[in-house]
Amino acid sequence: MFHPQGPTFAELAQQALSGTTQGYDLLANKFEYTPFRTPDALLEVVQDRIAAQGPVARGVDLCCGTGAGLAHLKQVCTEEVLGVDLSQGMLDVAQARLEQTPGQAKVSLMQSDALDLDLKERFDVLTCFGAFGHILEGEQEERFVQSVHRALRAGGRFVFITSGKPDPLSWRVWAAKAFNASIHARNAVMDPPFHMYYLTFRLPRATELLEAAGFEVHAERGLWQDKFRGAILVQATKR
Ligand SMILES: C[S@@+](CC[C@H](N)C(=O)[O-])C[C@H]1O[C@@H](n2cnc3c(N)ncnc32)[C@H](O)[C@@H]1O
Repeated sequence: MFHPQGPTFAELAQQALSGTTQGYDLLANKFEYTPFRTPDALLEVVQDRIAAQGPVARGVDLCCGTGAGLAHLKQVCTEEVLGVDLSQGMLDVAQARLEQTPGQAKVSLMQSDALDLDLKERFDVLTCFGAFGHILEGEQEERFVQSVHRALRAGGRFVFITSGKPDPLSWRVWAAKAFNASIHARNAVMDPPFHMYYLTFRLPRATELLEAAGFEVHAERGLWQDKFRGAILVQATKR
């Protein structure tokens, strides 16, 4: 569908009919060949921006999937890198990737829910890519931000990519809203739920949540061109 080695339409439908975790377990071996994997063109810039602020001892990537972001984080951390994901299938693929990735940091992977972590303020940098659509607006967003806060030391940074407020008249926004409505309808009649929504954790909402939790938010635009030109790099520093 997206790539000869990627999932077929039927396999993607099977993923959406399963719960979020089971769906990713099913998709894991083909995930690299989907557009849902965060592209290296975005991650390389993030890696440079993290490194530009000096050495980082410990980093963690939440919802790490097959390790796209972790592979970059490993190259800027000197001591430890941790990847957290709900899906063991995705973590198994990440494990194989990280063995081949340059970098001196010790790598560990943990199967856990990013909403309820207590990483005891151990980390200097925390990243999360391509996964905000799995976090429901409202109470789950607040739990997620509290998890991030508990993981970082004072002065530590939550680094992620988002985009700005969507144009309410754009057809893309209406298509995204229609998709979200179909997922809500699916979850009203099927268990376990599959949570995947568009238009979430955009800059205005993310800033509001992070400032309320005690972060200072810095957003940078214009770091990418062409199809990524709307992407915004956010670095939120824990006070
Ligand atoms: C679209 S993939 C993105 C993977 C990777 N970060 C990337 O950018 O390529 C989303 C990942 O988030 C994970 N995930 C979803 N909800 C989660 C949660 N509550 N806690 C931990 N992982 C979660 C899924 O298992 C999946 O691996």
